[in-house]
Amino acid sequence: MPPTSAEIEHAAQLIRGGRLVAFPTETVYGLGANALDAGAVARIFAVKGRPSTSPLIVHVGSIEMAKSLVAEWPESAERLAERFWPGPLTMVLPTRRNSGPGISGPIVPPIVTAGLATVGLRMPAHPVALALIRAAGVPVAAPSANRFTEISPTTAEHVRRSLGKDVDYILDGGQCQVGIESAVLSLAGGECVLLRPGGVSRADLESVIGTVAFRDLSPAAAHPSPGMHPRHYSPRTLLLLVSAGKLPDEGSGIYLQHSQPVSREGITVVQMPHSAAEYAAALYGKLHEADAASVDWIAVDAPPNTPEWEAVLDRLRRAANSK
Ligand code: TXA
Ligand code: MG
Repeated sequence: MPPTSAEIEHAAQLIRGGRLVAFPTETVYGLGANALDAGAVARIFAVKGRPSTSPLIVHVGSIEMAKSLVAEWPESAERLAERFWPGPLTMVLPTRRNSGPGISGPIVPPIVTAGLATVGLRMPAHPVALALIRAAGVPVAAPSANRFTEISPTTAEHVRRSLGKDVDYILDGGQCQVGIESAVLSLAGGECVLLRPGGVSRADLESVIGTVAFRDLSPAAAHPSPGMHPRHYSPRTLLLLVSAGKLPDEGSGIYLQHSQPVSREGITVVQMPHSAAEYAAALYGKLHEADAASVDWIAVDAPPNTPEWEAVLDRLRRAANSK
């Protein structure tokens, strides 16, 4: 049962009142607060246990709302928004500053952006998310609704298990359809850089704006996206990314098979979907289940290293990198 309009209105009132609401998006569930209320946003960081150096995405209900928060809205942003909003694309743009007499500073409080001169904006496609933002009438800052470094939630039950009573209200919109987080694309400084691959593929982005640069991962490079922590998206259980069906000799485990069969006694084999989109939609749910099974390890049959798998491989590599 999707939330009723009365439930959405209640949630919107909580947002306006500075409280925290978990809500479904097409990618993963978000933990939302009024993006213009620094105190409410501070609670997001406290509840998640997230370092203050990791900026939040601001969710908007319209392109006008997005434009009101940024200093410039380049033509590339206009074209991308036309094509992919509402949808799983976050655009990073320079923040707008207040300019009235007696007021100064960015419109979006620095706690949201980790003090950067840019803000990440996204218009989510889930009807409940859009209805919530529009009813609240304010932009909604929201990270994924899980504790720091845990696997992102793709059901309301995942949110309940992770955050429990620390969230004031949860809107249950069923299972997320995309299943992994949005693509984060920086358009600041006249350059297009993909900071995080995600729900919109690089190829689709390039079909609209031409070549998109890779993020520079060299240690010497300035940290363009402080939230790109390698330990994001991790189950508690040791996760191994394996090829050719090669499993550890010891211990109990679960094998998330894509195409390579394994021959070893005493392990549970879970068949994953073959297409990248369906695999992404299923991935976090399967990892949550495997994590709850109290095994020694989770082995993931590495999907092919081709462009359509870029976002899924990014998440799997981070999860495997965590211990
Ligand atoms: O699909 C999604 O993006 C989900 C749903 C809830 O919208 N949200 C999400 O939020 O994944 P979170 O906080 O888990 O990840 C936000 C990412 C981080 O990698 C952060 O570094 C990047 O967005 N980001 C946000 N603002 C940024 C900025 N101003 N500059 C660079 N990166 C930014
Ligand atoms: Mg997250």
